[in-house]
Amino acid sequence: MPPFQILQIDASARPGLSGTDPRGSHTRRLTRRFVERWRAARLADAVTYRDIGQRPPSPVTGAWIAAAFTPPERRDAAAQAALAESDMLVQELLRADLVVIGAPMYNFGLPAQLKAWVDNVVRVGVTFGFDRSRPGEPYWPMLPPGKRLVILSSRGDYGYDAGGRLEAVNLVERGLTVPMAYLGLTETHAIAIEYDEFGGERLEASIAAAEAEIDRLVDGLALEITDGADRASAA
Ligand SMILES: Cc1cc2nc3c(=O)[nH]c(=O)nc-3n(C[C@H](O)[C@H](O)[C@H](O)COP(=O)(O)O)c2cc1C
Repeated sequence: MPPFQILQIDASARPGLSGTDPRGSHTRRLTRRFVERWRAARLADAVTYRDIGQRPPSPVTGAWIAAAFTPPERRDAAAQAALAESDMLVQELLRADLVVIGAPMYNFGLPAQLKAWVDNVVRVGVTFGFDRSRPGEPYWPMLPPGKRLVILSSRGDYGYDAGGRLEAVNLVERGLTVPMAYLGLTETHAIAIEYDEFGGERLEASIAAAEAEIDRLVDGLALEITDGADRASAA
């Protein structure tokens, strides 16, 4: 069996890790914790790391759109070049069994570099299908089933979770779950730190709670996947 594949994506513009580096990123700290704990439980799994916070994908351009809507066999060299980065990001997503994304909140939504990643992986004929003559639903998801998405976020303010005072203006998790569900990736888990702009005990408590939640999530998911693989090989 091919190794289980994890795709780790960091989107923070801050390069270091909170708790380790001065002014380091909380979301980088959370994705690092997730992957290290995962690897301790399942050493044979493969991890692909993509740092879009430091190397943002190019935004979609006119040439990109024209190329994406040209059938592959009719794309010339320039059209292929316009899609080369998108092709690479799509391949990483197609290969992944589990995608873990460090997604900071910038102005209530996704950082531009993470939105650029989303725009590059939502590809007609590759990750979603479209046929305007199709009866009923003209769009359909094309990602292979069984993938999982883990969103690890951080916010300066507090109250963005369900029932909180700012729930209605939190566009981060939905900014990922809506387009990923459109591609067929519907099993999602989300954990976030709050109070970055306040610091002090509330921030420390929020970090500790998020880390404990990550540990529980990793342990549960790793067990589920190991059990599933054991059952498949026994069948
Ligand atoms: C450009 C920018 C915009 C931000 N916008 C918001 C915001 O709308 N709401 C909020 O609660 N925090 C906001 N913050 C605070 C960040 O969400 C917070 O610092 C978070 O920890 C960033 O993730 P990181 O630690 O991984 O870099 C913003 C920070 C930056 C740099």
